[in-house]
Amino acid sequence: MNTILCTATQENIDVAASLLQQGEVVGIPTETVYGLAANALDEQAVAKIFQAKGRPQDNPLISHISSMEMLSLVASNISESAYQLAKAFWPGPLTMVLPRSAKVSNAVCAGLDTAAVRMPSHPIAQAIITASGVPLAAPSANLSGSPSPTNAQDVYADMQGRVPMILDGGDCTVGVESTVISLVGETPMLLRPGYVTKEAIEQVLGQAVTLSSAIVNQLAKGEVANSPGMKYQHYAPKAKVIIVKGSLDAYQQYVNAHAQQGVMALCFEGEAVNLSCPCVTYGRADAPETQAQHLFSALRRLDDAGATTAYARCPQETGVALAVYNRLLRAAGFCVVDV
Ligand code: TXA
Ligand code: MG
Repeated sequence: MNTILCTATQENIDVAASLLQQGEVVGIPTETVYGLAANALDEQAVAKIFQAKGRPQDNPLISHISSMEMLSLVASNISESAYQLAKAFWPGPLTMVLPRSAKVSNAVCAGLDTAAVRMPSHPIAQAIITASGVPLAAPSANLSGSPSPTNAQDVYADMQGRVPMILDGGDCTVGVESTVISLVGETPMLLRPGYVTKEAIEQVLGQAVTLSSAIVNQLAKGEVANSPGMKYQHYAPKAKVIIVKGSLDAYQQYVNAHAQQGVMALCFEGEAVNLSCPCVTYGRADAPETQAQHLFSALRRLDDAGATTAYARCPQETGVALAVYNRLLRAAGFCVVDV
């Protein structure tokens, strides 16, 4: 298959919308990461997403809407809490897990009786959903297991020959996938941390939110994940990533003691000066939003540079930094050394 990578002009958005209406898959920008979109109401179109990504069939997808009218195509029995969160955070990087509607494809829900839905804030994503007129199921546009793409070139690297079209809308501003909150249990549960923090959600709901234990812990053998996506190895570059937790001084000493051919550092901006191996940076130590913006492309740049081992600086575990830590832990296969 020939893959067209093009700027998201109005003309190209219209071409994308008509491909989507014909049941094809298109790579699209969102504010979080790029997505691989298909009509969420069309079973066969959705099947093509799983095929293009090599994604396990039991991992459900998020449906993207551009208006509240579209919500009932995806979800049903929508609670007051859901409306409160939609009012506070939509359009934006928050996904809610709600009881599913009968219209959304079974493949999107992967056999569950719930559906995940969000309204993206990216103007190009909104324009594509509106032009195609249906909710779009869209996982991150990487090959299953690889870091999520935050620019169109990284989508092309993974999806060339697998999808007919990729729309280039520039770099993603958030850089990590949306926050996922489940509203179907007794208390709201955060399934995946993101730019919309647990604290911000609690403030709107006036209620405590439970953190799924899988966010910072490895699932025990046989343990069932609240969110199927959490049981898979994720976001992993080819290089072995090791998180080095401790002060900057201790980090630098540790990395220098282990520096050899193929070893690289994954540190924050301005920290490379005392290191005796090549470095890739991911944002500033004091600004977790910038870490979120750059983490996934930094992981891909490690592979481009041929790293075999990368020693990563450890993010904080609160606010937006929790999302960064959660992704880095998976990239590292939960390998953390305390120094
Ligand atoms: O920011 C994002 O959310 C991006 C962009 C493209 O919008 N999309 C994204 O999709 O990250 P994906 O498929 O890579 O991640 C979806 C996550 C998975 O962890 C999946 O298991 C979870 O959401 N999920 C989807 N439906 C669910 C459901 N019904 N119950 C629990 N978890 C669900
Ligand atoms: Mg993904």
